Amino acid sequence: MSASKPNANMLWGGRFTGGLDPLMVSYNESIYFDRAIYAQDIRGSIAYARANSKIGILTADEFAAIEKGFAQVLSEWESGTFEIKPGVDEDIHTANERRLGEIIGTSIAGKLHTGRSRNDQVGTGMRLWLRDQLREIDQHLVGLLRVTTSRAKSEISALMPGYTHLQRAQPIRWSHWLLSYGSVFASDLERLREVIRRVNRSPLGSGALVGNPFGIDREAMASELGFEGIINNSMAAVADRDFVVETLQWAATLMQHVSRWAEDLIIYSTAEFGFVRLADAYSTGSSLMPQKKNPDSLELLRGKSGRVFGHMAGLMMTVKGLPSTYNKDLQESFEPMLDAVKTTADSIQIATGVLSTLSIFPDRMRAALTPDMLATDLADYLVRRGVPFRETHHISGRVVALAEKEAKPMDRLTLPQLQAVDPRFADDVMDAFDYEASVEKRTVLGGTSKKSVEEQISRIQKLLE
Ligand code: ARG
Repeated sequence: MSASKPNANMLWGGRFTGGLDPLMVSYNESIYFDRAIYAQDIRGSIAYARANSKIGILTADEFAAIEKGFAQVLSEWESGTFEIKPGVDEDIHTANERRLGEIIGTSIAGKLHTGRSRNDQVGTGMRLWLRDQLREIDQHLVGLLRVTTSRAKSEISALMPGYTHLQRAQPIRWSHWLLSYGSVFASDLERLREVIRRVNRSPLGSGALVGNPFGIDREAMASELGFEGIINNSMAAVADRDFVVETLQWAATLMQHVSRWAEDLIIYSTAEFGFVRLADAYSTGSSLMPQKKNPDSLELLRGKSGRVFGHMAGLMMTVKGLPSTYNKDLQESFEPMLDAVKTTADSIQIATGVLSTLSIFPDRMRAALTPDMLATDLADYLVRRGVPFRETHHISGRVVALAEKEAKPMDRLTLPQLQAVDPRFADDVMDAFDYEASVEKRTVLGGTSKKSVEEQISRIQKLLE
């Protein structure tokens, strides 16, 4: 297209006579990414046309022609035969309407957009698309939680060190570690379901900003499209990309959790730890070092969290200074939405694949437990005999120091040695040096005992029903 000759097919071609800079044409166009919502754009248009037929803007025959014409447009997209007209089809809305006109004639197709604007149209299509994608992501997350709870159930007997500051702290069940993320992902699922409710509201009928002048029934269109309701104010409706912002915030939060989960497993898969081994399906070799097996899947999960966070931060910057209602800046919400949805959906499925194929090495986990990790249990032993905890903490600390001085594990100290530190240690004190018993004492709700872990599993399962 020449820069000096404006294309008369452009929707607003009548007013612009100077022509567009060719770079501006491509800078402005969104068709190469917003065609992702071709089907939703068509569904929205059919609902809009139906509502217009009810208020006499379209006759029943005109509506039937539009519906039939759109069925063909849809099948062209689906079969890959839809031909985008470069420089003409600025966005998906323009492209679908242009094609409809070619199929059914512009005298009918030209009535479709009565009282509508691309401003309410784009919001409608994006929300329909995003709602369906988020429902799929919901199911992926349910899948991850199912694998988490089923592993937690079947591997409940494996004990390992629990860490704070990445230092060995106290013994836990491996299942308790699994469910520590299960708990977080369950909250993510609850949050997602909240987000979906707000994504799933209709802006259609808001026009460019002031609302439709022909008495269109917004609620009927909303319910035809499966929306849970409408956005109450027409100006708010066309200005809004909070449904994308909120999705990105949700996705960034989820990915931050996935990233921490991945980081733990990267650490646990090192030779130094050796608690877990990734299946070949989720690892790769090194091009140089034949012995290497790298946890690329986990590293990518960790890495991609940065990119999702970036989309969130970027879009928030894009929208923060906009004046009221629609501004073209809002088009910049599209690509972050597409990429974040794909990245998040893929990441949850990769995480599920990693977790369901991972091998664990309970012997290595148990071998990493050391008696000093029971120093708190030793202090608790005296607490159960009425000694104030502040005092028992100090006494147990002296036992730790003694063991270090003697270069022996704490459980190898003799009873007389322990009694020299504090005479209240009796001969049953050695029972404190039992990892299994230590774990089983944590029977509190949310604790690491078997019963508490099982309770956690059933709470998550309730959410998945
Ligand atoms: N492609 C545009 C977008 O994504 C559609 C809305 C265009 N509206 C307008 N007034 N130029 O935002």
